Amino acid sequence: MKGIVLAGGKGTRLYPLTLANNKHLLPVYQKPMIYYPLSVLMLAGIRDILLITTPEDRPRFEKLLGDGRAFGIRLQYAEQEKPNGIAEALLISESFINGEPVALILGDNLFYGQGLTTLLRQAIRRLDGAVIFGCRVKDPERFGVVRFDEQKRVLSLEEKPKKPRSDFAVTGLYFYDRHAVRYAKTLEKSARGELEITDLNRIYMQKGKLSVELLGRGFVWMDVGTHQALHEAAEFMKTIELHQGFKVACLEEIAYYLGAISKEQLLVSASKYKNNEYGRYLLDIAKRKHIYPYWEAPFEPRADARAE
Ligand code: TTP
Repeated sequence: MKGIVLAGGKGTRLYPLTLANNKHLLPVYQKPMIYYPLSVLMLAGIRDILLITTPEDRPRFEKLLGDGRAFGIRLQYAEQEKPNGIAEALLISESFINGEPVALILGDNLFYGQGLTTLLRQAIRRLDGAVIFGCRVKDPERFGVVRFDEQKRVLSLEEKPKKPRSDFAVTGLYFYDRHAVRYAKTLEKSARGELEITDLNRIYMQKGKLSVELLGRGFVWMDVGTHQALHEAAEFMKTIELHQGFKVACLEEIAYYLGAISKEQLLVSASKYKNNEYGRYLLDIAKRKHIYPYWEAPFEPRADARAE
């Protein structure tokens, strides 16, 4: 399966922060925002990733992430000239996708919760059509809302409904089978002039090929497109990191546990950041005696399993 991270757009809700900066390069606590959606694709086991951004911002993403080698992924770049809608990502990616299934994630969407890796991998294994991810929210009328049956087949998708028919918002993560590009080519621009991802999802829904995976109580999903959400996300990540001692979306750590980079590569990153706590964290991981596959080791190895 291929992966796409969409990191274009205008970010007008975050002005003036985003007048001269790309939203997805803004900090969420210790890391640039883009690390978080990238980590989701990596945890899903996806190593071929295309990052789509504006022509203007592309060089800065390239400077930050390079060809992805430090994170054990193959990262390529493409440009979206104008924010013509999320579904345009599939058209831009046609040659990259090359007839395979694809996961699309929005660059300003953060996901966190125990069992996320398993949920993602199961969804990929069972993929038959398309999968969206629904998260319970307090105020569904602010979101795209999904209604579904007992088999989690999608029955309806509504944009910001006045009377929501479920409490589940549609998040910015979508898995598609190999037909997505073909369907995306049939889309027409909406009233607001965009190729809407909801319209693509409706095509799958009408064919009875759209299902939803639910992110329940144990999960946090944040769309960090506003000042308040950006601040809350930073606070949340800080709390997790300070209390648990785990970093969220530390790409080098994930790559190491996935077996996608060697200890030597991890040490190169650790020395790059040796003047701060991020570097010390990576060094500490490199010193551990045992490496477990990430999905089998959600917990810290016991103290006696660590190297001196
Ligand atoms: P939005 O939050 O809908 O748009 P935006 O990021 O331009 O922000 P604002 O509403 O404040 O002006 O976009 C959701 C995500 O999708 C975000 O990560 C940007 C990305 N995006 C693109 O890359 N290209 C697009 O054409 C659109 C519509 C969104």
